[in-house]
Amino acid sequence: MAKLNIPKIGRVKVRNGDAPLVMVTAHDAPSARVASAAGADMILVGDSLAMVVLGYDNTLQVTVDDMAYHTAAVARANPDAVIVGDMPWMSFHITPEETVRNAAKLIRAGAEAVKLEGGRKRIPMIKALINAEIPVMGHIGLTPQSTHVFGGFKTQGREDEAARLLVAAAKGLASAKCFSLVLEGVPDVVGNMVTQAVDIPIIGIGAGKDTDGQVLVHHDLIGLENRFKPKFVRRYGTAFDDQVKAISNFADDVRSGNFPGPDETYQAGDGLAGSIGLYGSQSVKDRKPTGK
Ligand code: KIV
Repeated sequence: MAKLNIPKIGRVKVRNGDAPLVMVTAHDAPSARVASAAGADMILVGDSLAMVVLGYDNTLQVTVDDMAYHTAAVARANPDAVIVGDMPWMSFHITPEETVRNAAKLIRAGAEAVKLEGGRKRIPMIKALINAEIPVMGHIGLTPQSTHVFGGFKTQGREDEAARLLVAAAKGLASAKCFSLVLEGVPDVVGNMVTQAVDIPIIGIGAGKDTDGQVLVHHDLIGLENRFKPKFVRRYGTAFDDQVKAISNFADDVRSGNFPGPDETYQAGDGLAGSIGLYGSQSVKDRKPTGK
């Protein structure tokens, strides 16, 4: 499947018969290669980096430099998917100038667009980015950078007024020329209302099945993050268990002297044969146990 680009993504609407967009996070070159091989349309270098890679409890700890470093790693994999770099907390809150300078770091690292959280109050920053030729994906609903304001990672838009405000936010961001929006953690009816209210694609995460696409965090969907499963996550793999099994098998083989075998061992050339006796040799089976 040919790689999409920002204008093509901006025209996708399921109600017009288009296939839903697939977005997945990646934070390094191998996960970008996997997402690309799997045919994802977009790779989000999400600030979920903070939680799924760096071990923090929320997303507030990552910086623009962290995001640029990981965006560059993703870009080096040259994936057949559009790369969206996530603007971390405090990188787009102070002035439009600072917002553009921070976004430029992600673009120079290899992102083709940036994503930022928040509703209509972000419009001045979004306009500044678009004036600087930087495509913007909005993100509304359960915005994880607002965790302290929301009192945790709480579903949004459960009341009429809150749902109405989300629709108004989506319309405002679409008028400000965001090319698409992430809509996170809202009831499915609100997912439908927001999706029908605008002409740009709505990419859902916990927003029901009526959106114009879906995004999941790589670690959640492959089962590498196995401690906590938000309701909206479906695990398509058992990566944590698979990796524990692989490393346990390696450990067993090392401890029993079964690794490396002949296939994983370099053989000496004829010229070295005479020197071996100089240094002596000891098989792993002859070594003293290490205590494990
Ligand atoms: O940071 C991230 O991974 C995200 C997705 C959950 C949409 O923002």
